[in-house]
Amino acid sequence: MIGRTVLITGASSGVGKALAVRVAAKKAKLIMFCRDEIKAEKARKEIVSKSRNEDVHVVIADLSSIKSVREAADNIRKRFPELYLLVNNAGASYTKKIITEDGLEKTFAGNYLGHYILTHTLLDIMIKHEPGRIVNVASQAHMKIDFGNLNGEKKYNYFNAYKYSKAANILFTFDLAEKLRNTQVTVNSVHPGVVRTSIYDGIRGLSKLAIKTMWPFFISPEKSADMIMPLLVSDSFRNISGKYFVKGKTASPKPGVDNKSDREKLRQLSEKLTGIKYENT
Ligand SMILES: NC(=O)c1ccc[n+]([C@@H]2O[C@H](COP(=O)([O-])OP(=O)(O)OC[C@H]3O[C@@H](n4cnc5c(N)ncnc54)[C@H](OP(=O)(O)O)[C@@H]3O)[C@@H](O)[C@H]2O)c1
Repeated sequence: MIGRTVLITGASSGVGKALAVRVAAKKAKLIMFCRDEIKAEKARKEIVSKSRNEDVHVVIADLSSIKSVREAADNIRKRFPELYLLVNNAGASYTKKIITEDGLEKTFAGNYLGHYILTHTLLDIMIKHEPGRIVNVASQAHMKIDFGNLNGEKKYNYFNAYKYSKAANILFTFDLAEKLRNTQVTVNSVHPGVVRTSIYDGIRGLSKLAIKTMWPFFISPEKSADMIMPLLVSDSFRNISGKYFVKGKTASPKPGVDNKSDREKLRQLSEKLTGIKYENT
């Protein structure tokens, strides 16, 4: 890991920040991909201080904006000619329906589509310097995608919007692993556990009360990061690709979530929305 370039999205808080400290402590060159400049700089200082590694860089972009991610990814390619490890970790949930400048529901756009663009734009600098690893942070809170309700056309439910985006993270992992099978770049997805982070801040009403009650039983971001780290650094995962991990073990997505038809639908939709195809990367 010494001197190797690692990019973590959403490294300014929660699981992403805890992973960033661990990766930086291994003397990697770390790129923090974050949307809030002030928060990111504060986190950068903390990561540098805890890891004793100054080689920590911030790139500011919003994953829910196609233009913003594209510009940032192009900028990263210019500044950092090789990439060893990409951790697509950033995620959020929005209690009110937000439609982005691209006409997309924001949870799907930020949690999934932005990572689709980022990954494809950086793939060639990973493959060129293989081996490499991509880790997508998904969630056990995933559910079969209703493609007719991805933008909340029928009804917006913020739990469902989040669950579709996390299913998309898993389907994307499986689909991309197939494409990468003749390379030495692996791609896996992981459920980080139920973690005490700011992702729950926006939740209101009865769900807020339930979370407050369960809060002491949630794990810390540090414990979550310790569980995920082997996927990032351990030799025993070097040749493992196209898997979904829960508590350090391979797991199957919930019944009905993964099937050929949904993988294809998601791929075709992503290609249509972004103009990016694996074959052209
Ligand atoms: N916490 C859990 O129990 C849990 C369970 C299952 C899965 N997960 C997944 O774990 C991952 C990490 O979440 P967390 O729990 O650590 O939450 P968190 O503390 O809220 O961290 C999420 C990070 O993602 C960033 N982010 C969100 N949307 C973004 C966007 N559009 N563009 C750029 N950055 C964006 C956030 O930036 P800001 O700070 O600017 O908001 C923040 O840095 C997420 O993918 C989440 O879905 C979490």
